[in-house]
Amino acid sequence: MSRSAIAILSTENLLHNLSVIQSQAPSSKILALVKANAYGHGLRSISSRLDKRVYSLGVASSDEAIALRRAGIEGPITLMEGIFEQDELLIASCEKFQVIFHDWWQIKALETLSLPLPLQAWIKIDTGMGRLGFTPSEGPKAYQALLENPHIIKPIGILSHFACADEADHPLNQQQINCFENFTKNLPGLKSFCNAAGIINFPASHHDVVRPGMSLYGVSPIKGKVAADFNLKPVMTLQTRLIAIRHLSEGSSIGYGSQFVCPKDMRVGVIAIGYGDGYPRTAREGAPILVNNIRCRVVGRVSMDMTTIDLENCPDAKAGDPVILWGNNLPIEQVAEYTSHCPYDMLCAIQNRVRFHWTKK
Ligand SMILES: Cc1ncc(COP(=O)(O)O)c(C=O)c1O
Repeated sequence: MSRSAIAILSTENLLHNLSVIQSQAPSSKILALVKANAYGHGLRSISSRLDKRVYSLGVASSDEAIALRRAGIEGPITLMEGIFEQDELLIASCEKFQVIFHDWWQIKALETLSLPLPLQAWIKIDTGMGRLGFTPSEGPKAYQALLENPHIIKPIGILSHFACADEADHPLNQQQINCFENFTKNLPGLKSFCNAAGIINFPASHHDVVRPGMSLYGVSPIKGKVAADFNLKPVMTLQTRLIAIRHLSEGSSIGYGSQFVCPKDMRVGVIAIGYGDGYPRTAREGAPILVNNIRCRVVGRVSMDMTTIDLENCPDAKAGDPVILWGNNLPIEQVAEYTSHCPYDMLCAIQNRVRFHWTKK
C-alpha cells in the first residue's frame, strides 16, 4: 500500500477563483502566474485548466514554457524573467512566447540574431521593487531600442511590480504608482502592474493586464486575512491518514529532541506526512490539523515522514482516519501562523512523492 499523503485539487475552486479575480478586475485581461510548478499545484494540470480562459500564462523560464507547449497548451505564454541565454530568443520566436525584457544584455542579444517570427515583447520598469527592470531614467532608452528592433512586434507592453502591494498604506506603493504613471504617459500598448494583492488594494492601477498568482490558488494574498475574506476557495487540500494511536503517560516525551513532554496521560496520533512531503518542519506545537474534521494540534517536532498530534479533541479517532493539513475547512493562512513560513513557500515546498488527485468539484 502506498503512503497516504495526498493533495486533492479542485478544478471547481480554481475556476471559481478565476471568476472572482475577473470580477475584482472586470476591465483587465488576466495573466495567470503558473511558475514554480503553479505554486506547487502542478504546472500542466493547472495550465490545462486555465488555457484559453486567461489572456496568458506566466512562467519563470523557457523550460517551463516548453513543458507547457509539449503538454498541448496552445494559448499565449509569457516568460516573466525573459531569456537567460540568447538562444532562447529563437525558441521564444518559434513557440510564440511573449518575452519580458528587463536588462540591456537581453536587448543586445536581439541585435545579433535573426528570428523566424517577430516577438511579442514587454519592457519591465523597476519603479521601486529593486529587483528586475530598467530604472525610470534608463527606461526610455531601452524602450526606444526595443521599438527600433525589427524583431519586436509593436506596440510594446510595459509592466512593473509592486514591492509592498499587500500593505495598502505603505508609502512606497504611491511612489511606485506615480513612477509608473509618469513612465507610461502617452505610450501605446498594454500596461500591467498588479499582482494578487495589488488587484485587491489598488483598483485604480489595474491597467490592461493583471497578474494574479496566490489568489488563483485560493489563498489570501493579504497578511492577516484568509481566502474566504475575499470569497476565494482553496484549490489544494493536503491530506493524509492516522497510522498509529499511542497512549503516552504523563512525563513521557514525543519525537526528536524530546521537545514535547506530556503534561498528563495523552492519546497521541501519528500521521503519515512530514517535512519530506513538504509539511513545514518549523510547524510548532499547537499548529492546527483536522482529524475527522475536528480541530486537533501538532505536538512534538515534525519528522521527515511523520508528524505527531494530540488527539484529546478526537477521542474516537483510529488508525486509517483522514487528516487534513490545510485546505477545505482549514485555511493554510492559519497553519502558516504556527510556522516560520508563509503560504507561498509552504505550497511551493510540496514534494512529488505526495500523490496529486484532481477532482471536478
Ligand atoms: C512579476 C510578477 N507578477 C505577478 C506575480 C504574482 O504574485 P502573487 O502571487 O503575489 O499574486 C509575481 C510573483 O512572484 C511576479 O513575480
